[in-house]
Amino acid sequence: MHSKIQEILKEIEKFSAKNIEDAEQFRIKYLSKKGLVTGLFNDLKNVAAEEKKEVGKLLNDLKNSAQEKFDKFKNDFESTVHSDKNDNDLSLPTDFIDVGARHPLSIIRNKINEIFSRIGFTVSEGREIEDDWHNFSALNFPEEHPARDMQDTFFIKKNPDIALRTHTSSVQIRVMESEKPPIRKLFPGRVYRNEAISSRAHCFFHQVEGLYVDKNISFADLRQVLFYFAKEMFGEDTKTRLRPSYFPFTEPSAEMDISCFLCGGKGCAFCKHTGWVEILGCGMVDPNVLKNCNIDPEIYSGYAFGMGIERITNLKYRVKDIRMFSENDLRFLKQFKSAY
Ligand code: PHE
Repeated sequence: MHSKIQEILKEIEKFSAKNIEDAEQFRIKYLSKKGLVTGLFNDLKNVAAEEKKEVGKLLNDLKNSAQEKFDKFKNDFESTVHSDKNDNDLSLPTDFIDVGARHPLSIIRNKINEIFSRIGFTVSEGREIEDDWHNFSALNFPEEHPARDMQDTFFIKKNPDIALRTHTSSVQIRVMESEKPPIRKLFPGRVYRNEAISSRAHCFFHQVEGLYVDKNISFADLRQVLFYFAKEMFGEDTKTRLRPSYFPFTEPSAEMDISCFLCGGKGCAFCKHTGWVEILGCGMVDPNVLKNCNIDPEIYSGYAFGMGIERITNLKYRVKDIRMFSENDLRFLKQFKSAY
């Protein structure tokens, strides 16, 4: 019995399997019901009683070695069986993953931020719920100014001092109150107006405001910066013009037009046959506004400009209806996948 066990142990140690079929042969030969190891267990009853314990232990060791060997074969070949099926083939194309797209307004906001960051502007954000001081009074809006009218502004019923901001100019005040010049900042954000929703107007939209306050800032600086912006945003051939305008918080004030990029300035239905389209409001910060923020207008001057992100996006991507921006229609949004 001892020598038989030794013999089979040697056989088992030597046995090598090349594939899953060899491993199965091994199992049948040694571990199956009619296998050699099982056979030896059956012979145990013929062993003398005093040797039974020792032989039994040897047999158990033998069986364990056979089982371990078989488990190892199984492990090896099962993983090769898998890789035969190419489950782990990293060169195979993946399943289609439908990635999302950035919202067109975010694409344009990021682009505006990026263009101005190249000339030293940094981004700050204010709050959407504002008080009268930051949204109107500090910005030099007279008490009876129509923009304060309930028609345009969403006020809080219980406290008419609190409103949803109607423009990002409120952030100018917050920044000038808390920082010392030089201030060179951009304020992007959402604004609210109490208007009927149509293809051209919405009760909320987005603006980017720019502010530069320092010593010796002139209208020429403002003009040059806006000129640079228009070319970076709409292309090298874009022409610009400033028209006199009015805002309570800037003096002088202007609106900027760019040459219509659809007709190149010749006049078409898009630019209402004028050759120009309006893109922003701007001006030199009114001395009263600087004073309201404890900045001495005798020492400092500044310029400000503000534009609607929807407007720039409409011009850039020719979106005709601004309601598209907030309807979450995937057919619309998916078109901007390759736009950034
Ligand atoms: N706040 C103005 C608006 O909402 C835009 C503007 C900003 C004009 C800064 C001049 C300077 O229409």
